[in-house]
Amino acid sequence: MSNSEITKAVTILHQGGLVAFPTETVYGLGADARNPDALKKIFQAKQRPMDHPLIVHLANISQISEWAEDISDDAWLLAKTFWPGPLTLILKKALEVPNLVTGNQITVGLRIPNHPVAQALLKAFGGGLAAPSANRFGRISPTTAEAVREELGDAVDFILDGGACQVGLESTIVDVRGEEPVILRPGMITAKQIETILKKPVIQKKKDAPRVSGSLESHYAPQTPLRLVESTKLDIFLQNLSESDSPIAVLSRNKLIIQNENIFHIFMPNRPQDYAHDLYQTLRELDKKGFQQIVIEAVPESIEWDAVRDRLKRASF
Ligand code: TXA
Ligand code: MG
Repeated sequence: MSNSEITKAVTILHQGGLVAFPTETVYGLGADARNPDALKKIFQAKQRPMDHPLIVHLANISQISEWAEDISDDAWLLAKTFWPGPLTLILKKALEVPNLVTGNQITVGLRIPNHPVAQALLKAFGGGLAAPSANRFGRISPTTAEAVREELGDAVDFILDGGACQVGLESTIVDVRGEEPVILRPGMITAKQIETILKKPVIQKKKDAPRVSGSLESHYAPQTPLRLVESTKLDIFLQNLSESDSPIAVLSRNKLIIQNENIFHIFMPNRPQDYAHDLYQTLRELDKKGFQQIVIEAVPESIEWDAVRDRLKRASF
């Protein structure tokens, strides 16, 4: 990444434009979080409902208090432990935070991303950048600059290309306002890791946490219908596949017994981190190939798989 690209991006942001940039999780669609006109463009570009709040991205921890109030000890501890990194903290908003950022709520989501390009951009910009994932509303988050182009085309003024995102799934979102932290969206920083640091149990919010757009059922979906099938039922499912349901793509961590010309098989990794890294890009590529269905072998029920399981559930019918 050249300095001149960062300079160009910063100029566009100060003028109220949109810049897509890489983070370690997924690409973000960034705008000046203090500029309502710029924020409006985010919603237009994504075709996202205006009342869905945006995460504010910061360069360093000292900026928290410009955006949030009543910052709990838990919040500080998590921030110091996991930032920069794939964690978003929900806090009580500071007075001046624009309503378009908070979706008219009394809270604000903050995160310091751990990607050299995001860091360079945020440092050079100086302020907070509101940045949702750089996809159209309801679609899979982009993990490459190419995917951002596909999603948003001319609706974004400039794209910083930082290669493929290392984590591949969106950040863990945790509400740290109360005595008991609440996970609103699982991510690759797990409930267990948060409990270990805070030395207390965390609550896992069930599916429809209010006002978290990532918790709408139809979220993170490819256009090809996606079906989740339990490991033990996968071969029977494939055996009974009708001609009209074919061809299909199958993503599994285990070998398939049934193989034929109607089944395009992709081996997925056994480590949740690697699986998460590959998932969106794999779905995005498969989505272009005209399969009748994408069939995915369900993943384990254990905590390390929470984030992957959550996204698969949302994407399936
Ligand atoms: O990894 C990520 O978090 C990526 C990268 C770009 O940082 N961003 C991302 O943003 O996933 P987005 O907008 O696609 O998803 C953020 C989620 C949304 O579901 C939004 O509703 C929720 O965070 N959110 C943001 N602010 C919130 C708040 N104050 N209270 C509750 N939920 C909030
Ligand atoms: Mg998103």
